[in-house]
Amino acid sequence: MKFRFLKPLCFIVFLSLNTKLMSQQDHTEKIEALLKKMTLEEKVGQMNQYNGFYDVTGPAPKNGNAALKYEHLKKGWVGSMLNVRGVEEVQKLQQLVVEESRLGIPMIFGFDVIHGLKTQSPIPLAEAASWDMEAIEESAAVAANEASAVGLNWTFAPMVDISRDARWGRVMEGGGEDPFLGAKIGAARVRGFQGKDLSLNTTIAATAKHFAAYGFAEAGKEYNTVDIGTNTLYNIVFPPFKAAVEANVQSVMNGFNILNGVPVTADAVLQRDFLKGKWGFQGFVISDWSSIAEIAPHGFAKNLKHAGEIAAKAGSDMDMESKAYVTHLAASVREGKVEERLLDDAVRRILKVKFELGLFDDPYRYCNEKREKERLFHKDHMEAVLEMAKKSIVLLKNDSGLLPLKKDQKGILVIGDLADDKNSPLGSWRLASDTNSAVSVLEGMDSYTKDYSFVQGPKYFDDDASFLQHVKINTDDTSGMEEAVAAAKNASVVVLVAGEHGFMSGEARSRTNINLPGLQHQLIKAIHKVNKNIVLVLMNGRPLALPWEAENIPTILETWQLGSQSGNAIAQTLFGDNNPSGKLPMTFPRSVGQVPIYYNHYRTGRATREPNVFWSHYADEKNSPQFPFGHGLSYTQFKYSDLSISKTAQKEISVSVSVTNKGEMEGQEVVQLYLSDPVASIVRPVKELKAFKKIRLEAGASMTVRFLLTQKELGFYTTDYEWTVEPGTFEVMVGGSSAEGLSGSFELE
Ligand code: NOJ
Repeated sequence: MKFRFLKPLCFIVFLSLNTKLMSQQDHTEKIEALLKKMTLEEKVGQMNQYNGFYDVTGPAPKNGNAALKYEHLKKGWVGSMLNVRGVEEVQKLQQLVVEESRLGIPMIFGFDVIHGLKTQSPIPLAEAASWDMEAIEESAAVAANEASAVGLNWTFAPMVDISRDARWGRVMEGGGEDPFLGAKIGAARVRGFQGKDLSLNTTIAATAKHFAAYGFAEAGKEYNTVDIGTNTLYNIVFPPFKAAVEANVQSVMNGFNILNGVPVTADAVLQRDFLKGKWGFQGFVISDWSSIAEIAPHGFAKNLKHAGEIAAKAGSDMDMESKAYVTHLAASVREGKVEERLLDDAVRRILKVKFELGLFDDPYRYCNEKREKERLFHKDHMEAVLEMAKKSIVLLKNDSGLLPLKKDQKGILVIGDLADDKNSPLGSWRLASDTNSAVSVLEGMDSYTKDYSFVQGPKYFDDDASFLQHVKINTDDTSGMEEAVAAAKNASVVVLVAGEHGFMSGEARSRTNINLPGLQHQLIKAIHKVNKNIVLVLMNGRPLALPWEAENIPTILETWQLGSQSGNAIAQTLFGDNNPSGKLPMTFPRSVGQVPIYYNHYRTGRATREPNVFWSHYADEKNSPQFPFGHGLSYTQFKYSDLSISKTAQKEISVSVSVTNKGEMEGQEVVQLYLSDPVASIVRPVKELKAFKKIRLEAGASMTVRFLLTQKELGFYTTDYEWTVEPGTFEVMVGGSSAEGLSGSFELE
């Protein structure tokens, strides 16, 4: 690649000052020098992000005037672009800015690299089910490697929003319901994307989003109101964001929701006091798509200009597609409505990230056509996402031991539209992937045996068009049902693949009904009438409510949406070459009426069953979930024994437990430790995950697993955001899920 950033003299001078040896401290001087040269408009320009010219990931831009965009690019009024990808396109636009604008400040190019670029890893909720932080980090590194090969240097991931509401479509994009697990996953993803050296052309800047509490949208309805107390905000919502900041995340995205009456994009307490204040976040805040403009319709600003003023004051450093800053912010500063020092702070933060990405050394460092050709769908990436997919599968039920299937088993019948689907396993949020590029279940099974038959079954999709592609609808077409039932009569085992299609979850995909869509439930019941040997393979982007199936189908394998290698991972698991080891990162309800349902709920004054009706329960449903958080079986069995709790010299608590593989197969188990503080100055949840370890045991082998509980695990945040550890009795439970384990207790003085 020949570098062509030679035009503006000042930029050459500026570049010549940059050497490879430049340390981070040097960046500060360079940033200050550059800031001094910048006009007000150029500062605002750095705070402006435009969408590219093709793809959109939000409401279609109203002022999407391409000519104006080009003019702004040439003036240096665009600090960043999103949804531009491909070396040729990135380079063209970068060149325009670097060569034509007065100061030639390079742009950063952001994209939603949520679970891969071309090569798709499992959806983030699925990866969370692996409870394997090294694997999750590696998966993000693979995504960064591919994304950086197409000119990108910034991803809008990880989404670290905790959510307890399976109706909300975006649960597919997060780490589930638990703040402890969510914090570990968030930090692992940041490390994976950013690597150890952000300036390498294989690593990209990460974004923790959406700050804050977007996952608590009322009724699981997308873009809806959030109203939660400080207990939940500080102890449930914040921890993954704080962990991402501690992992040096380069940017944080705010969101669309209001939080307790204030749009989060307009919230100075969140962005200035907590994020940039108490937590010392050094990167910059990017708004969500048009979230600055939306401050007005929320009823918090008079118009776009006013919204921009509020957002800038609140610490929203970069404006994604609202055009509030680029249109009005300079005037607002001149009118004395916004202090210029706030813009300086925002610009410093943005420039710092650009320096750290190495863009001032070489604005085209991510633009290498040879690398682009080589890295996409690279075999190493395909291998990595296969391993990740295998680790993400959760065995929910295996009552009659139907799994694993024997490799020479005759008469396997595969049923279900999704078995043949090469697109749905890619899930939502995979803008850059190739349609139909996943390995289907049938293709995966082909590698094992040709001796199976397949019936498609009825069409079941009950959702109309998606925003990225159109899915045929066919709600009441039962063709295939009769054929499937007839074939099932003679099958030795029926592998029934059911669930949601790939775009039924994701942004703007809230559902009020989280059962199996369409005719699938009817199909399963009809098959069950003639053959009970059913392995139900679920493919879905959120927890589903399937009470009948959970009760009646002997074997259920949760495979989520596993990405490019989905069918191979599923087949290897069905035939026992992969022993499932995933654990649910989110509770599965019995019915949608139980939602929000989560394991770390509070006690109530009337939690225990009374002979009369006056206790906390439903008249028509149990209180317990269908499958609890942390649940997941294996083809082998693990036995827990010898729980021991002691105090160390440092007044920390040491917990150990012995785990034995009682079965006949090697397997992995996630050993989970839950803590409960039964009496506290603020009521604590019935239990909270505070430690876990994923271990591997040969058949018959045992291992002692040790945990250390320090001040970090023993306390909680008060309503004043003080971390407090209170003396008294604590209860400990260690086991293979949040619902059962060995219990003990200790006293803290
Ligand atoms: C809106 C989504 O909420 C956000 O997560 C995403 O990064 C942006 N659009 C950009 O596509």
